[in-house]
Amino acid sequence: MDLELIVCEAKHAFSAASDIAALENEKARFLGKTGKLTKFLKGIGQLDPDMRKKEGAAINVAKHQIDMALQERRQVLSDALLDARLATEIIDVTLPGRGMGNGTLHPVLKTWERVEYIFRSIGFDVADGPEIESEWFNFTALNSPENHPARSMQDTFYIEGNDDTGKPLLLRTHTSPMQVRYAYMKKPPIKLIAPGRTYRVDFDATHSPMFHQIEGLWIADDVSFSDLKGIYTDFLRKFFENDDIQVRFRPSYFPFTEPSAEIDMYFQTGKNAGKWLEISGAGQVHPTVLRNMGLDPECHVGFAFGSGLERLTMLRYGVEDLRLFYENDLRFLRQFM
Ligand code: DAH
Repeated sequence: MDLELIVCEAKHAFSAASDIAALENEKARFLGKTGKLTKFLKGIGQLDPDMRKKEGAAINVAKHQIDMALQERRQVLSDALLDARLATEIIDVTLPGRGMGNGTLHPVLKTWERVEYIFRSIGFDVADGPEIESEWFNFTALNSPENHPARSMQDTFYIEGNDDTGKPLLLRTHTSPMQVRYAYMKKPPIKLIAPGRTYRVDFDATHSPMFHQIEGLWIADDVSFSDLKGIYTDFLRKFFENDDIQVRFRPSYFPFTEPSAEIDMYFQTGKNAGKWLEISGAGQVHPTVLRNMGLDPECHVGFAFGSGLERLTMLRYGVEDLRLFYENDLRFLRQFM
């Protein structure tokens, strides 16, 4: 009778336990070392063998019933716990995956790499120079003396401060200063391309205050204008993957070259077909520039060119407004993935 009571009491206590910790406490109250049922078990030692057997069997039945009740309640409580977690941590497995956004190079950078690749393949070195440049490298060394009107061809960002020799500093207006910097470091033959950022006070559909150029320079003892024609024409055909491109060298003026030319190209086919388009400045390196490089114009000759990377990119992809390259509109940029 007592045993039945204990079982009944245990069942009640278990179902009243509202969480696992409370349930474990209740378990100890009945089945623990000093628990109610355990006390019963300890008592049977004093009984005579027959009674001990009967009582022992009855206690085992009661223990089994309590165990069952305990397990049942455990299950209920852990199911409830799981349900509660599932309700708060909703995972909608039908949503599309987030995916890994693959980055890509900016179209102008792609052009940069492509031009580098083509010139490297014909033996040109690639060099990089400072964007904050001394007026001397940017203008004077390139045969634009101070106060010479040719300087006004390039609307310059002057910045405060001077270089080591006291000359004013500016944001380089072209990559041409790299010609002189590089010639300071290397003896002829010099075969260089120098891509990089350049700056001018300019902003419209075909000009941005920051833009990119690539400078080319080849100086040796016998480099002629016809080498320039051959190399540049070949470059354009490779760059645009179009062997029909025609190239013309139109007389022009740059302080650092003599003769100077504007390079135009003509597409027979494709989206630019039928138009002459200006693509680069070029010329034979001026004797004064060679002297400023520390070279003797009697022994060394060569050509130079400077091309806009944005211009090459616009023509390659048929983009009409250069400002699109700098608006960072992904809808535009994704087209070049
Ligand atoms: N630096 C010139 C410019 O930005 C482009 C140029 C013309 C570079 C002729 C050259 C060259 O090296 O020979 O307008």
